[in-house]
Amino acid sequence: MTQAQESVHLVVATATMEAKRRLNTRSTDDPSWFASTAGRLMQISDKDVDVGALVDAQMHCVRFFLTSRERQLGLAITDHALGLATSAGLLSEQRLLCNFAGVFHKESGKHVAAIEYFVRGISIARRIGHRQGEASIWANMASSANMMGLYEDAIKFARRALALAASDVDEIAIGARVAASQVLARACQVLGRFDEAMVAVQNALAQMPPAKSNFDHLMRVRIHHTHAVIALKVNNLSVAQSAAKLAEEEAQYCVGPDAVVHSSACRAMVDVRLGKIQDADAVTEGLLSRYASESTLIFDLFVARLDVLEQAKRTEEADSLRRRFRGEWQKHKMKNVIGQLRILDDAAAHDLTDGSMQAVRERLEELAIIGELHDDQTGEHAFRVGRLAGLLALRVGLGQEHADALDIAARLHDIGKITTPLEILMKPGRFTDDEWAVMQEHSAQGHKILSSRKDPLMVMAAQIALHHHERWDGGGYPSALKGNDIPQIAQIAALADVFDALSHQRCYKPAWSINASLAEIERVSRGYGRQDFETKIADEFICLVRELVEEHGEDGLDAYLSERASESAFRNARAAAGSTLEANQLAAAVLRAV
Ligand SMILES: [Fe+2]
Ligand SMILES: [Fe+2]
Repeated sequence: MTQAQESVHLVVATATMEAKRRLNTRSTDDPSWFASTAGRLMQISDKDVDVGALVDAQMHCVRFFLTSRERQLGLAITDHALGLATSAGLLSEQRLLCNFAGVFHKESGKHVAAIEYFVRGISIARRIGHRQGEASIWANMASSANMMGLYEDAIKFARRALALAASDVDEIAIGARVAASQVLARACQVLGRFDEAMVAVQNALAQMPPAKSNFDHLMRVRIHHTHAVIALKVNNLSVAQSAAKLAEEEAQYCVGPDAVVHSSACRAMVDVRLGKIQDADAVTEGLLSRYASESTLIFDLFVARLDVLEQAKRTEEADSLRRRFRGEWQKHKMKNVIGQLRILDDAAAHDLTDGSMQAVRERLEELAIIGELHDDQTGEHAFRVGRLAGLLALRVGLGQEHADALDIAARLHDIGKITTPLEILMKPGRFTDDEWAVMQEHSAQGHKILSSRKDPLMVMAAQIALHHHERWDGGGYPSALKGNDIPQIAQIAALADVFDALSHQRCYKPAWSINASLAEIERVSRGYGRQDFETKIADEFICLVRELVEEHGEDGLDAYLSERASESAFRNARAAAGSTLEANQLAAAVLRAV
């Protein structure tokens, strides 16, 4: 070993030891120490040092960033370490780093990238037969699916994690079981399957190892909170009461407002049912005003306060709080989206190629698909609307270039729904006036997101997002534009959107036949009573669909219209996750058969 190599070796070994010490003790200068150490470790050439040792040192830094908020830096060093581990063929490290990279992407809201890493990690875990490691990745993938709104997928992934980690007692397996049970509880809760949610949350609690740190105690507070909320949903007040008590006990070991908020929120929800209305009222009101600017806490507080007001039958106050809650939610989501776009813009500023523009477009497309997932779990609605709009544009003489642009721009028509609160998107019944007003805001919100872009394609997309719910007779929204004041591209996209929504199942309606859908379009384009579309353009659309059905058959129409969804990173990632799951089930079946 040369002298230079020896000194590099020493740097790596010292960094590893110091990182381990700091991970166990935690001090206030940790963030800057880990940041500068990570930077230094990324400068070291793999020729000067044992790669395994270097990757190990980097992974200790990654572990720190996983629990701090420095996701960008965490991801940078994860990518670096993953590159080294891949070229050196270190499979076990690759598995772990893929899991870490997935978690960083998941936490930044980039679920497609997260799933790509998770799928890669799972295939490596299988190759090396690391069952608990695989379980841990499935649990994280379940969490990503949950955050995207793919609740059924989340349930399948979580169950896979639980099955894989079922009989092991090591730390990774237990961690995977706890995490998967939590996701399961949350997904079942959202879907209204409260009994299953209850079993899952109780499993999570039963599996939890003794708390070793403040962070562990906080996790427990949160799970007790969830337990109490679900127990109240199934009217089991005594279980809720003991969960609230346990949350308070755990909260004593925590620092910071997080534990106080969670434990007080479930206490108030229990108190109001025990008749202690004044206590519950004072606590929730006090906390809500104190933590109004904390975006990670405020939504749990809103839910608790709303529950207290509803239980106390203070309807007007509850309605006004609900309005405030939705407004805050929209603001929070919008800030998040704009922030994500800014990061892409910063990256693009250094790399003025088509590639960076492509990245922005793909990100927007992903957001648009996620916004509509509650209506369309396949993510193909956006693509069908795009292609139909492009084909109609050609037919009305807009020219090939315009039609091609419209095919892409129209996919983003509902991107604003990314800011619409979940309970509205998922509501199966009729909307109240307030809910309807919030729903309608998706067009202006979409416009706001897209109009921050300057390229012509996005200018087009912004116009479509804003005006795709206008009606020819002026009865639409948001601007009540009439006739040809509605941009033609928005009229085209609206026809495609309405037809596709009619001919497919939605949470509020079954799928209509193609004929019935076309008949409805004809009905609302004739000017008897209401008129949504101009007659001539609607007739062109009806002819277009008839010709397409003739060419591709009723059953082949969807496949043809969504052909370009094969380019969708979202669809591909989801398909990869699905086939990985199936392959796994197949392998399990084969094993059972042997
Ligand atoms: Fe819409
Ligand atoms: Fe749509």
